[in-house]
Amino acid sequence: MEIRRFDSLESTNKYCKLLDPSTVEEFLVVVAKAQTAGEGQRGNVWVSEPGENLTFSIILKPSFLYAKDQYQLTMMTAVAVAESLGQTLTDKRVWIKWPNDIYVDDKKICGILTICNIVGNNISNAICGIGVNINQTQFPDWVPNPTSLQLLLGERIETEGMLSLILDRITKDYNLLKNDSEVILRRYMKRLYRLGIEADYMVRGERIRATITGVDSFGRLMLRDNCGMEHLCGMKEVTFGGQ
Ligand code: BTN
Repeated sequence: MEIRRFDSLESTNKYCKLLDPSTVEEFLVVVAKAQTAGEGQRGNVWVSEPGENLTFSIILKPSFLYAKDQYQLTMMTAVAVAESLGQTLTDKRVWIKWPNDIYVDDKKICGILTICNIVGNNISNAICGIGVNINQTQFPDWVPNPTSLQLLLGERIETEGMLSLILDRITKDYNLLKNDSEVILRRYMKRLYRLGIEADYMVRGERIRATITGVDSFGRLMLRDNCGMEHLCGMKEVTFGGQ
């Protein structure tokens, strides 16, 4: 596995987007100590204090996956990161908050941004961008519910050790995804945040009280409201908390 390390980049995802995928090996990892324009979901920025956290991207070439199954990549990455963090946070529950966040209790510790390049019906290559809050203890007010390993454990954690742990798990789980995606799905479901718990959601502009029942094969969130009606929600169609 090649690891390219930088003191500072605009964004590790952006760096990977500018590469010609045919010239790089699968599993190229790009790590930056600082990002000056980190990219988050839905056009948001990803803020991370230089040198304190992990911000990295991995180039994958999952030609075995159909384009319609692309959420499986985020699923696999989320399972691998959540389980790695769970190994360190032994007395806490680490959750996967659909679609691509890792939560500890009700706070966000990690965000994942997967970009897939589709050719025909298949994924020719993908960039999996991962930001994990490791030692940052103060966040701007506008960052919703942040936490970090240091805030949770009360001590500094070595970022390199955490990176090796996560990369090791992603390598194994990526190979598993090729052969037995059901195993990944089962591990994902075990950690799905708010599975089976009634809560407020805003679905396509309507506030509902509902329970998460699962995630379908296209990666859509499945909700059942308290009138028994089923709702299938794409990424931009639902927000947690009913606001
Ligand atoms: C989110 O929760 O909004 C997703 C955040 C993803 C952040 C990571 S940090 C490394 C990689 N490079 C980026 O610019 N973004 C991802």
